[in-house]
Amino acid sequence: MQPILPGAPWLIAHRSMLGVNRPHKITLNGRDYVIWQNQKGEVSALDNICPHMQAPLSDGWICQERNTITCPFHALEFDSKGRLERGDKEDTQPITQPLEIIVKNDCVWTYAGFEPRLPIPELHQKIVDEYELLGVTGEKSIQGSFLSNLMVNYDYNHQNGTHKELFRITSCHVSSFEKNGYYTKIQQELTRADNTFTEIIKNPVLGIFPKNLSNTLEYAFPSTTVFFAKTPIGDIAQTHLLYPETENRTKTFILMYVKVNNPVMKFLFKNSVLQAGARVIEQDTGAVESLYPREKPKIRLPNEEIMFYAEELYHDW
Ligand code: FES
Ligand SMILES: [Fe+2]
Repeated sequence: MQPILPGAPWLIAHRSMLGVNRPHKITLNGRDYVIWQNQKGEVSALDNICPHMQAPLSDGWICQERNTITCPFHALEFDSKGRLERGDKEDTQPITQPLEIIVKNDCVWTYAGFEPRLPIPELHQKIVDEYELLGVTGEKSIQGSFLSNLMVNYDYNHQNGTHKELFRITSCHVSSFEKNGYYTKIQQELTRADNTFTEIIKNPVLGIFPKNLSNTLEYAFPSTTVFFAKTPIGDIAQTHLLYPETENRTKTFILMYVKVNNPVMKFLFKNSVLQAGARVIEQDTGAVESLYPREKPKIRLPNEEIMFYAEELYHDW
């Protein structure tokens, strides 16, 4: 496939998603990689195709002492630089390709071997400076192009349909739209319906959000959308990540960051907040996966220029 947005920094995993000494398969722009983290917290990544007879290394196993991965087919062993592990240390040429990664604030980034065209977004630094990670949620591989998934994140009308019942939103108004190249900032005012006690019991997230909400959304194109919300239990920075797996598959997950003063609140609402994030992803996925092939819209809604701005950045890359 033609790589999508070559030279963009992609956040492929958070350290907490990797576990210890467990190989994971990552697909980025049509290529498979194996990634693992050892007990010292060092992260390694290689081309997933074994150079012997093309078995997937991600089905193999990690040697804790040597920080190597062993192929599941004939048990050849490779170190993190892609060199064959033979014990004699004589042959030091890599025979399989390592994936260059950058680990920053527990996030694993890669340019997948392309010349970097954008730095790793500062937005992430700003978040970790102020918030703590509550957890990772909504990890999903979505059947749909990168562009259609990206556009949903910049779509200020889909909450009326796609997320209608989850937050009971009755109106959404964009009060400011600031664009600065690949960085975009939106100020959004939401009104929600009144919720009955039974509704809150069924969906505790409704109890967290007030009737009127003023949220900020910040975007670091193309990988990141952050939804900043102030709630009575604390501040939330819901960070959505996207990267292209193949032409028609897109990976997403949410890093949920919070600033909570009361640890009891954090304990009580942790699961509800993470579950709400996962629900949001499920609903967006449902919307994207059900679309017919795209055509020129015959009608326009308010605030769609935000979404078309993202589309323009994509096409002008
Ligand atoms: S295919 Fe990997 S060792 Fe043979
Ligand atoms: Fe959405």
